[in-house]
Amino acid sequence: MSSTEVKPTEAESQTQAPDFSCPDLVTFTPRHYGDWRDEFHKNGCVVIKNVISPERADYYRAKQIQWLKNFELGFDENDESTWTVDHLPISFKGGMYFAYGSTHEKMSWEARTEPSVIEIFEKLWETNELICSFDGMNISMPRRKDVRWSPWPHCDQNPERKGMQAVQGLLNYAPNGPNDGGLMLMKGSAKVFDEFFAYKRESFDHEDAPPPEIKFMDLFLFSEKDVKWFQDRGCELVKINMEPGDFVLWDSRTMHYARLPEGDQIRHVQYICMTPRRFATPETLELKKQCFETYTGTTHWPHCNVRPTKEKPMRNGEVCPKDRSEPFEKPVITDTLLRLAGIKPY
Ligand SMILES: [Fe+2]
Repeated sequence: MSSTEVKPTEAESQTQAPDFSCPDLVTFTPRHYGDWRDEFHKNGCVVIKNVISPERADYYRAKQIQWLKNFELGFDENDESTWTVDHLPISFKGGMYFAYGSTHEKMSWEARTEPSVIEIFEKLWETNELICSFDGMNISMPRRKDVRWSPWPHCDQNPERKGMQAVQGLLNYAPNGPNDGGLMLMKGSAKVFDEFFAYKRESFDHEDAPPPEIKFMDLFLFSEKDVKWFQDRGCELVKINMEPGDFVLWDSRTMHYARLPEGDQIRHVQYICMTPRRFATPETLELKKQCFETYTGTTHWPHCNVRPTKEKPMRNGEVCPKDRSEPFEKPVITDTLLRLAGIKPY
């Protein structure tokens, strides 16, 4: 293995000041892999085709639709008049679901434990000892009239963290072409992340920026001027088109955002992120255990910034009456699942 490792010194506790001073967790030396890793290390992102079969993707797509119906708010995937907030659980940015115990639904854990999904991260990090995030899913209806939306280019790595410290991914379940919304990536931006942040930069005050009391440790919002800065350095903003069963992987330093669909197709994805267990401190693993036991979600980061989500889904200024603290369908507990959750050591 041609990589070097440094143990992180991550301050996890809410009571401690954040410490981003840890050096690169893994430094990848340039080499030829002969697979998708060549493109990933060149551009900071890559689409991996046919990770699960189209039939399996369809299974997950149907599961996500059923999940929306489980709330009994009158949602009907065939009746566009029900594609409104009144008929749907509360989401972020018109389709991202993190609350209601959804991050621990059986279907989410099934996706995380797909052998071909785990294999991607095993190859990437060159270890079989991985832990995963308890991340959300995205189910976005096109042509929503009740959702105000504008691009929100951001990255999910704090500028103080240097080098590649996390890699995000999503498993795609529905056809996703140019009009179907989805992931926009600034190809190549991870490579110039440190150069951009060598100067003092202010996170853009986007209309959907989270309120300051929610301390997102790893979120930076870019302005239009910042977008141009990256483009001037040869980076390219691309819409990632995918078929059911494809997986996209991106370095968390990559500028990105999700675009709402404009065609006829509902967007269906599961966000998945895995990093080596050895990156996590015992304190983080304990926090993960608490999240797991209470069906709580986490950020995209599996090994640090495990920030148990305390915010409740709000509807008309009050906690959503459909709020729930556990999944509709609990996951089947296996050794693989417990290891990825960080509960069981390797
Ligand atoms: Fe993001």
